[in-house]
Amino acid sequence: MAAAACNPVAPSGPVPFKDVDDGSVPEHTPKEEFGDLVAALPSRQQSILELRLYQGFWLPEHWVPGTIVFQRRFTPRPDDVILASYPKCGTTWLKALAFATAARTAYPPGGARHPLRRLNPHDCVPFIDEIFASGEEAKLEALPSPRLMNTHLPYALLPAPVTATATGCRVAYVCRDPKDMVVSLWHFLRRAKPDLLFADTFESVCDGTVVVGPVWDHVLSYWRASVAAPDRALFLRYEDMLRDPGGNVRRLAEFMGRPFSAAEEAAGDVAAVVELCSFDEMKGLEVNRPGSGTAGRYRPMPRDAFFRKGVAGDWANHMTPEMAARLDGIFREKLQGTGLIFS
Ligand code: A3P
Repeated sequence: MAAAACNPVAPSGPVPFKDVDDGSVPEHTPKEEFGDLVAALPSRQQSILELRLYQGFWLPEHWVPGTIVFQRRFTPRPDDVILASYPKCGTTWLKALAFATAARTAYPPGGARHPLRRLNPHDCVPFIDEIFASGEEAKLEALPSPRLMNTHLPYALLPAPVTATATGCRVAYVCRDPKDMVVSLWHFLRRAKPDLLFADTFESVCDGTVVVGPVWDHVLSYWRASVAAPDRALFLRYEDMLRDPGGNVRRLAEFMGRPFSAAEEAAGDVAAVVELCSFDEMKGLEVNRPGSGTAGRYRPMPRDAFFRKGVAGDWANHMTPEMAARLDGIFREKLQGTGLIFS
């Protein structure tokens, strides 16, 4: 008590997860605990993944036990920020931007020793679903506030205390033109299965049986949450972020309760965050180059796989106009009347 009074400066987050992860792994994982429940779910093989239909979404089988535990045992803190996304829609970028923004007092974004210059964004911001799947949630508990974490789960599958007004926390979601998402997903999956046909990935997105699909339900779940409570759910678009990165960093900062002050604006801190997290900067870092190692626990992927082209409109190099029109048509129909429009 006396020590706390003498030293009122508590450790403040977010801190790079990898710096505080002691590498310990528990003896028992949720996989053993929920094996029977998972085995009873409808299944489907999709590219490199065995999918299970869980609460209306096709989750990779190895995600389900962790999702159940996350839903049952996660206790949000009021100042937590959860970064959410459908895969390949800008997760890595959002993690970098949010971390650089939220941690800018401890780690000035222009500094040569910034954690994002030595760590991949996925090693700075923990992927909650993976942490729960491996039974390591005590590590999340040990993180200083405010915590920054991410998930690929749809809003509807988030734990009730996260989405409840009285107990919840903020959630920032990034979405992307589904056509570019499909292309990005295919390239990513091909790193594990080089002979994967583009048509297979495309069809799985069209019929909804894709990882964490249907994609339209995923996007809509966050869209509706952001419309209902914009101070609790932020809805970002990858294309907007490319067009106006500074404006979107400011939105993110305000949403996280850490708006840039006039002094920070004058000092160029927004531009410094944008520059630190820019595609060229991140892709060029030693830690993200080919052969530099992997990120992720579910299925570790080479770190360079998270930085491919980083542009909008690459779909035109992979899809016929007919395919593009078909995918646009599916999304137009599914999103009709919701106020959300892709093209
Ligand atoms: P492409 O494959 O179209 O290049 P996720 O992080 O959700 O896995 O999404 C990956 C996509 O985001 C990839 O798209 C990747 O190149 C792009 N990306 C990664 N870092 C980025 C950054 N700093 N700026 C812009 N795009 C980025």
